[in-house]
Amino acid sequence: MASPTHFILPVLLLAAHLLGSRAVPPTCERIECPSYDVVDKGNGFEIRLYNSTQWMSTSSIDDISFVNATRTGFLRLFDYIQGKNKYGEKIEMTAPVITQVAPSDGPFCASSFVVSFFVPKKNQPNPPPADGLQLQTWGLKYAAVRQFGGFISDGDSVGEEAAALYSSLQGSIWFSAVSKGQTADPTSAYTVAQYNSPFEFSGRVNEIWMMFAMDSHRI
Ligand SMILES: *[C@@H]1O[C@H](CO)[C@@H](O)[C@H](O)[C@H]1NC(C)=O
Ligand SMILES: *[C@@H]1O[C@H](CO)[C@@H](O)[C@H](O)[C@H]1NC(C)=O
Repeated sequence: MASPTHFILPVLLLAAHLLGSRAVPPTCERIECPSYDVVDKGNGFEIRLYNSTQWMSTSSIDDISFVNATRTGFLRLFDYIQGKNKYGEKIEMTAPVITQVAPSDGPFCASSFVVSFFVPKKNQPNPPPADGLQLQTWGLKYAAVRQFGGFISDGDSVGEEAAALYSSLQGSIWFSAVSKGQTADPTSAYTVAQYNSPFEFSGRVNEIWMMFAMDSHRI
């Protein structure tokens, strides 16, 4: 005879799985997203491990507007996937589009932004080169992640979400590694990941990522 624990354990595992998968943006059920493992969840953050991703990136774009810089970068990358590349090859749309942000010191100075497209697995062995775009190849990378919804506008929303992520990590075992990651890479204090096209009005998912390495996993 099966004891009640034989039923309870699978139910708990299923519940944990469903709860865990709720954080995966719905866009990723339709188009390819980079896969990752969830390593930890805390109050206001999730720690993910990404492995072997490739990103096609713009050069750095100086702008006072996050929204405008992201649009400029996105349009270049959209041309790229439509076939404006050295092989004239069309590439499947993926998500998210990420913007790496290097904030400036003053409120009215330009920040720099690098906008990137996740290269689908199919194209990773041989992504078509293109003028003005660079390939970023990431090894094993951790990300501290905070999700938020809606349309991103200029003003402080992105900076506030990044600050909230940073303070939610304080006191966790991840904080010193995240801080070290921030000082190690002045070109990207944080990354903003957007999963939806401008034409989707509901269920929009955005994330702040703070990338970092762990000494035990340096490669
Ligand atoms: C990361 O990806 C590389 C290449 O696909 C693979 O060889 C390696 O084992 C992966 N590492 C982990 C920790 O999954
Ligand atoms: C962003 O672009 C729009 C449209 O081109 C322009 O009207 C607006 O002034 C720009 N915003 C900033 C902060 O540069």
